[in-house]
Amino acid sequence: MEIERTVKLRSGYEIPVLAIGTWQTPNEIASRVVQDAIEVGYRHIDTASAYKNEEGVGQGIKKANIDRSKLFVTTKVPAEVKTYEETKKVIDESLEKLDLEYIDLVLIHAPKPWAVMFLPITKNYDKANLEVWKAMIEAKEAGKIRSIGVSNFKIKDIENLINNSTEVPEVNQIQIHIGKVNTELINYCKEKNIVVEAYSPMGTGRLIKNKKIKEIADKYNVSVPQLCIKYTLDLDTVSLPKTTHKEYMILNKEVDFEIKKEDKETLDNMKFLL
Ligand SMILES: NC(=O)c1ccc[n+]([C@@H]2O[C@H](COP(=O)([O-])OP(=O)(O)OC[C@H]3O[C@@H](n4cnc5c(N)ncnc54)[C@H](OP(=O)(O)O)[C@@H]3O)[C@@H](O)[C@H]2O)c1
Repeated sequence: MEIERTVKLRSGYEIPVLAIGTWQTPNEIASRVVQDAIEVGYRHIDTASAYKNEEGVGQGIKKANIDRSKLFVTTKVPAEVKTYEETKKVIDESLEKLDLEYIDLVLIHAPKPWAVMFLPITKNYDKANLEVWKAMIEAKEAGKIRSIGVSNFKIKDIENLINNSTEVPEVNQIQIHIGKVNTELINYCKEKNIVVEAYSPMGTGRLIKNKKIKEIADKYNVSVPQLCIKYTLDLDTVSLPKTTHKEYMILNKEVDFEIKKEDKETLDNMKFLL
C-alpha cells in the first residue's frame, strides 16, 4: 500500500512516500491534525519554521503516543535565513518547538528570501546558501538532524552546493502537480540520487474543481485529490497532500489504483498556470 511505502535516502533512512502537509494549518489545530493523520496511518509530517505551527505539530506527535522511530518529521530553515549563525539558531528553535530529540529531515525552504524569489534580477545568494548548508551539515553531524536537503532549488542552486561543499542534498521539495511538472529538474535530481518531493499535489486545492481532471478521476471511481496524489506518486516523487479534515486524510491515502498509460499521457499534456 502506498501509505506504507518508503524510499531510501542517501543517508540510509527510509522516507515514507506519502506525507501530511501542514502549510496553512494554524498552530491551534495542528496538534489535532497531526494526531488524526497519525491515527489514520500517515507516518510522515511536513512542516516548516515559516508555517508557525511546529509547537502544535510537536504536541500532536506526543499525544499520538507512537514510537518516535516510526515517524518521519520534516521542517525547513526559513527562506529569509541566510547566515550560518541564524541557521544554527533556527534549527535549535525547531527542535525545541517540535520538542524532539532529532528531526528526520531539514530543508532550506528556498534559495532566496520570498520577497525577492520571483524578481528577475536579485543579489546572488550562492555564498549565503553555502553558509546555511554548512550549519545544516554540522547539525547533522551533531545528531540533531538525520538528513538534509533543499526546497524550491533549481539545478544551478543545487550545483552550487554540490560543487562547493562536502554534501549533496538528499531531497529537493518542489511544486509538482498535474499541469506543472519540471521534467528536466526531476531527471537531474534522479541522476544525482536526490529524492524529489512534490508539494501542492492538488495545486493548493485549485485543481480540485477541474472538470477535465474529474472526467479522468470518474473513470477510476476516485476523487480528483486521489488522482492528483497518485499522479505525483507515479512520477516517483514523495507526495505531500495537505488537509485539516480527517475524512479527507482517509480518502487521500486510498491511492492504490493504477492510472492507465493513455490517461497518464492526457494528464501529462495538461498545462496550468497556478
Ligand atoms: N516547500 C515549499 O515551498 C512548499 C510550498 C507549498 C506547499 N508545501 C508543502 O506541501 C503541502 C501541500 O501543498 P498545499 O498546502 O499547497 O496544497 P495541496 O495539498 O495541493 O492542497 C490542499 C488543499 O486541498 C484541500 N483538500 C485536500 N484533500 C482534499 C479532499 N480529499 N477533498 C477536498 N479538498 C481537499 C485542502 O482542504 P482542507 O485543508 O480544508 O482540508 C486544501 O485546501 C503543504 O501543506 C506543505 O507541507 C511546501
